Amino acid sequence: MNYEEKMLLFNQNRFGIYVHFGLYSLLGRGEWTMYSERIPAKEYAKLADSFNPKPGCAEEWVETAVAAGAKYMVLTTRHHEGFSLFDSKYSDFTSVKYGCKRDIVREYVDAARKAGLRIGFYYSLLDWRFPGYFEPEKYPESKEALLKQIFGQVRELMTNYGKIDILEYDGGWDAKLRLDRPQWAEFWHAAELNAMVRELQPDIIINDRSGKDEDIETPEQVVKSGVQRMTESCMCIGDSCTWGYVRFNPNWKTPEQLIQHLVQAAQLGGNYLLNIGPCPDGSIRNEELERLQIVGGWLKENAEAIYGSQRCELIGASQPGLVDLNLQGPWTRKDNIGYWCIFRWGGSQATAVLVGTPVKKVTLLANGRDYPFDWDAKTGKLKIYDLPILPPDPLCSVIKVEFSDVPRRMEETDLADWING
Ligand code: GLC
Repeated sequence: MNYEEKMLLFNQNRFGIYVHFGLYSLLGRGEWTMYSERIPAKEYAKLADSFNPKPGCAEEWVETAVAAGAKYMVLTTRHHEGFSLFDSKYSDFTSVKYGCKRDIVREYVDAARKAGLRIGFYYSLLDWRFPGYFEPEKYPESKEALLKQIFGQVRELMTNYGKIDILEYDGGWDAKLRLDRPQWAEFWHAAELNAMVRELQPDIIINDRSGKDEDIETPEQVVKSGVQRMTESCMCIGDSCTWGYVRFNPNWKTPEQLIQHLVQAAQLGGNYLLNIGPCPDGSIRNEELERLQIVGGWLKENAEAIYGSQRCELIGASQPGLVDLNLQGPWTRKDNIGYWCIFRWGGSQATAVLVGTPVKKVTLLANGRDYPFDWDAKTGKLKIYDLPILPPDPLCSVIKVEFSDVPRRMEETDLADWING
């Protein structure tokens, strides 16, 4: 597959579920606890004996992802704490040697593959147990040992689990927080590492967090369009500071917010990776489960507006350099069809402006009915009539508009023209 084909497939999948699960889940204070509380490695390692997720938890994650309408998943195979959820010749600090003595990555891969989901691995380059990460000059042997672990483990992950679709590195930043990406890449030997990955998994998608650009950008907690590459915006359902399980986690996003993020990611031509942080026993907390089920219910009805959609240039589908917006909501598109995703329903009439392509038909996805409309070729104003007064879908109602060609935004040669009609 070439880059375009890979990205097309990636966009068709559009929506993924991220799973942050590790020893930190047992503490309930987020995945950074070891470092933020500076817990010495030996002491932290004691947690491993109590790592005992209930059998079948990976299947539960997969079932939830399917119910949410996600087409792929990404699991933290090893986070910054260094505990691997897979069998490894390069580390004994694994879920196979301690606690439950199971290969959680294998359980996840098997379940996801069976459900037809595409498979992503998150892998942290940094490992807080190695002084050589923090002070490479002072502890050169430890840095070498860390690199040996990385190369060995990434090879294991790319070899032992069949076809892997996405590799998401993390923790590639410099311990002293110098913003020099080429230097990060050099530190991790990213060129060599990624060449090995591509040899083992020729069609894989790799993110840019090793310092080397590769295929996708993965901004956190915000929906963004990529500067040069495809974007996968990743986000938490609860409070944004942690991804792993936090027992008392306030500020859960509403299903409306989650759907709006997904739509925004789609209208920018990118993907949305929504995170869950399973409980210590691997189960998914109700706050996350309920929201994902609601998102899935909405996606079922509105699938065609989201999976595999393309950027649309009509107002409300943000265009780089344009400040215009349609306050009701953005557009996505598939070839000649525009999908106006209305977050703020305006009642029985909807008006879109600067529509430069003739309109053939207007349908509401929520009820499958067609609605009368006027399109003025001169002004580009599209008025849709007799719509329901109340939002037909309280979460986000999608108006499907069939155009005679790819919908174009009408150019405004005189910005003041509209004032006098
Ligand atoms: C960050 C954090 C990490 C989290 C990740 C998710 O880089 O260090 O805890 O796993 O982003 O993308």
